[in-house]
Amino acid sequence: MFRFKKHIFLLVLTVILLAACGGGGDTASEKASCAPNCEYTDMTLCYPQLGAESDWRTANTASFKETAGELGVRLIFSDAQQKQENQISAMRSCIQQEVDVIGLPPVVEDGWDAVLTEAQNAGIPVIIVDRSVSADSSLYASHIGSDMVLEGERAAEEFNKAMPDGGAVLELSGTTGSGAAVGRAEGFRNKLNDNITILDSQTGNFTRAEALPVMQAFLQKYTPGVDFQGIFIHNDDMGIGAIEALKAAGVQPGDLFIVSVDGTRGGFQAMVDGWFQADVECNPLLGPQVMEMALKLMNGQEIDREVLTNETVYYPDNAAELLPTRKY
Ligand code: AHR
Repeated sequence: MFRFKKHIFLLVLTVILLAACGGGGDTASEKASCAPNCEYTDMTLCYPQLGAESDWRTANTASFKETAGELGVRLIFSDAQQKQENQISAMRSCIQQEVDVIGLPPVVEDGWDAVLTEAQNAGIPVIIVDRSVSADSSLYASHIGSDMVLEGERAAEEFNKAMPDGGAVLELSGTTGSGAAVGRAEGFRNKLNDNITILDSQTGNFTRAEALPVMQAFLQKYTPGVDFQGIFIHNDDMGIGAIEALKAAGVQPGDLFIVSVDGTRGGFQAMVDGWFQADVECNPLLGPQVMEMALKLMNGQEIDREVLTNETVYYPDNAAELLPTRKY
């Protein structure tokens, strides 16, 4: 009799322990222990930043650090130096530290399933920030960021307007496999008129340093104004690197029709100087929105599964006036 009772006791104990460990359930919507009255000062938010490759990224980092400071959120921040394996290790460390929410700005789209599943099994909701992931949406709580396809479409429309009789353009693309580069390339091809050809497309990895030699190599192969009339550049930093190469090759501002993405101060200056004819906005100031959603998740409140930033296109005609007002 005593042995039978002991077996029952052990069985019940095992079931309780398995449940406490989150043994295989969808626990992404687990509430924090402070719910429904959690406040920002209760929150530990993990932000494994993907790198510091551009002015956009610097502004994104500042937005998270400043917002956390203002709200009293404890921020666990790291810089993965554009390496996915570093982002994954940072996420694992945050899971071990039992953070409340993870905001993940993924360097590339693929390869997140395992670590997202680990976060889910630990009951830690993940908000995908900025770029998208290819993982099933059941593995994360929401995505907050830009519509990268729309940005590429907006760039294409600028070329369509400027080159009604057609022509050829070069593309300086962002990090290979990143949601930003994939989306912008897709949108650009969706909307570009048939009489405009993409002569060549190479990555500059979203950095000034890497864009410069790519542009130099383009200029060795193709003659500006003859072989191509325009360049679509996936971000302002690469645009600034490309301008250096163009200047060195004797190209003058306005010789080529150049459209960039981001709307940073550097991009605005390039419009003022006559190099860029349009700059498609991509807003990096996502800290407040992400922390607001993180608090809702902690309190078990409803959230939107996809939040796209409302953006526009900037032009040279009022760039000088707007430049001093730019926040990044
Ligand atoms: O994912 C957003 C992109 O990443 C920005 O356009 C670029 O500047 C950054 O590096």
